[in-house]
Amino acid sequence: MSLTPEALSALRRDYAQRGLRRAELEPDPLVMFRKWLAEAEREGVLEPNAMVLSTVDASGQPWSRIVLLKVCDEGGFAFFTNYQGAKAQQLAGESRAALTFWWGVLERQVNITGRVLKTSREISLKYFASRPRASQLGAWASAQSSVLGGRDQLEASYAEYEQRFDGREVECPPDWGGYVLEPDVVEFWQGRSSRLHDRFRCTRAGAGVWQAERLAP
Ligand SMILES: Cc1cc2nc3c(=O)[nH]c(=O)nc-3n(C[C@H](O)[C@H](O)[C@H](O)COP(=O)(O)O)c2cc1C
Repeated sequence: MSLTPEALSALRRDYAQRGLRRAELEPDPLVMFRKWLAEAEREGVLEPNAMVLSTVDASGQPWSRIVLLKVCDEGGFAFFTNYQGAKAQQLAGESRAALTFWWGVLERQVNITGRVLKTSREISLKYFASRPRASQLGAWASAQSSVLGGRDQLEASYAEYEQRFDGREVECPPDWGGYVLEPDVVEFWQGRSSRLHDRFRCTRAGAGVWQAERLAP
């Protein structure tokens, strides 16, 4: 069955599960975020740690893609990737970036902005060591964001690294590792009825100090 233009424009959902009151906000938005993430996990959200990462290239063109949140602590929001791919080149030129989470079953969105830095090599190595062997080999095999002649090329590259690391541990590639986004702004969005959603924007006001403001939906 096809989704006709009329049917598409009629797709509509009223968000009626719950609200978000100022009193429910944790003073530290990272604590609040972890609480919401745990609830998303409990509610069975598929890949609750999947987030849209938006970066900007040298011409001012924004680009977005999903990456997985792998560490969330006082330092910020960390993900792991290739250090030569498109997003890495964009981050090298412009370190400001944005993250978006959407947890549909909870009718919740979180938007985060801040600066992105590379994680320490130690953190990258530790995370790389925890990955399944096939993913480790995949990191070697794929020159992320480069143009491929065909899928065969990728599979041949994988097979080559399988051989190279046969019978031994797969090392972390030198151009693979983590980034951490240090948040300046974290916005919590809870869907409400009649599009009168609840939004709170938490802005960093100093070391460990955050100010929360309610925004119009
Ligand atoms: C659910 C999901 C999770 C993903 N997780 C990651 C990730 O953690 N790291 C990563 O580099 N790419 C991840 N990807 C692939 C990226 O979306 C993207 O295709 C890739 O990083 C290349 O992006 P770039 O060319 O803009 O650098 C994921 C994709 C999906 C759909």
